[in-house]
Amino acid sequence: MLQLKNIYTSNLDVIWTLLAFAIGLSLTFISSSYLSSSVGFPRGVRYPDTGESTRRGKSAIDGIYAILKPQSTIAEQVISRAISNARLVRAFGLSNTFVKESFDVHNAFVAQAKYLLKAAENWPDFLEVCVESVEASLASLRHASTIPFDVFIQGITLRAVLVGFLRVNATPASLDSYHIQKVAELITVLWGLSKSKSPADIASLQPLREQLRVSLTHLGLPYRGISGVDFETLHNPLDFIIPAWETLWRVVALSFAHTYAYKGVIESLEIFRDHPTKHNFQSFEIVKGTPSIEAVVMETMRLFPPSGRIGRAIPQFEAPSFIQQVQNLIRSIPLPISFALNSTGTGEGRVTSTSFMVVKADIEAIQRDTTIWGENSTTYDPMRHHPKVFTPEQKKALIPFGAGSLQCIGAKWAPMAVGVIMAAIADRVDHGLTKEYVLVRGKKMGSRNGWDGWFVQRRNVDDTIQPATTSNGDDLGLAVQQGSVTNIRGG
Ligand code: HEM
Repeated sequence: MLQLKNIYTSNLDVIWTLLAFAIGLSLTFISSSYLSSSVGFPRGVRYPDTGESTRRGKSAIDGIYAILKPQSTIAEQVISRAISNARLVRAFGLSNTFVKESFDVHNAFVAQAKYLLKAAENWPDFLEVCVESVEASLASLRHASTIPFDVFIQGITLRAVLVGFLRVNATPASLDSYHIQKVAELITVLWGLSKSKSPADIASLQPLREQLRVSLTHLGLPYRGISGVDFETLHNPLDFIIPAWETLWRVVALSFAHTYAYKGVIESLEIFRDHPTKHNFQSFEIVKGTPSIEAVVMETMRLFPPSGRIGRAIPQFEAPSFIQQVQNLIRSIPLPISFALNSTGTGEGRVTSTSFMVVKADIEAIQRDTTIWGENSTTYDPMRHHPKVFTPEQKKALIPFGAGSLQCIGAKWAPMAVGVIMAAIADRVDHGLTKEYVLVRGKKMGSRNGWDGWFVQRRNVDDTIQPATTSNGDDLGLAVQQGSVTNIRGG
């Protein structure tokens, strides 16, 4: 009887499997012909290695939103993001929601990050941490005549993030400068290597990762968690350092480099430093003719979004509509088969299909699109964010923090944090006229790398090195395009 039942069951399994295969084939056909003639995933948005997008304006915005706000559930979007970010596991051993397919990890990580962000919202306290971080970084000028600008900003931002955001048990000055620099340098190198497919580069990841672990341990961040936060699922401090620091420092560097020579902006930063309030951050014309500090930060993030392209993996056979069709089918017919998709309904879904393509929402392209931002779209002009001229279409197209359910939860905190860090720096460093330290500029601005020729040094009236700027910033050669910076000239 038992044997008969087994034979019966296995015959039934074969029938079901054949049936499912046939359904699968016809659904593939239906879904691909449907997708090729209707909305589905946008094709005009720049896909990897397919060259420039032909879509512009509203159509490009729709394409990006179709990727970032798809029909699928949040759990499915988490999976789709994790698959496209797999390289970050290899490079950094991350275990956060950017790389994990688990919806539980997503919820736990987001809750922990929100907890940390809330605690870091005391702006006078955060400013104090930033001021101490600037002093700690300037202290290295006791041993050297100059500090490279990127190293300077990386160090300040890392100390501020560790003490003011992650609440490590230390003061900014007590954090060992060598290991601060080492952590910043190794993260940047590992980030670059994570994109490489060369076997030699891949082999170099492990020893560099080990060096990073050692330096983080020296800074009081062993790989097991941070006090005050329940780290049951997360073990690696980089889970927080990467999303927070790796984005922030570049926005600080570019915002400061674009505006440090503008008297009006520096004066606004001074007012903001004395009273770090939302009002002083958001108000235009605090000093006559100047943009708000928020506008400066947002203009940096418009032209140089730290996450220039946001990836999502979708199965090669043109889902997610297909996934949804199969999922609905499986739910409606109690088939005793295991199909390519295994979703428990609790959010612990996992797409087991073998082949994926990664689609990218091209944030940088949409934020520089001339049909949305005008012919001067690549000009650094914070005044374009003035409420009187900022259009609803521009509002929709300005998405440095992503969009939809997985949008950045630091979107409110991060811009203000950049402003506070800038205010602390501007108190000590300017373009060579009044402050004790001077920023000397290189030929062009960098991003993660490329800050050659930029450095900070003590001001000396006999210096032969002259900063290549005037008091109103006239000859600032902007990285993107020289030109109409007149709007941000201050008093
Ligand atoms: C200038 C600074 C920042 C930028 C430009 C930025 C950018 C982004 C972007 C584009 C996303 C969406 C990713 C996607 O859709 O796949 C994102 C998500 C996220 N960011 Fe940020 N971020 C910044 C700062 C921060 C900070 C300070 C934190 C604090 C921990 C943070 C935590 C997160 C988290 C937890 C998510 C995932 C949210 C979710 O899955 O629901 N970010 N960020």
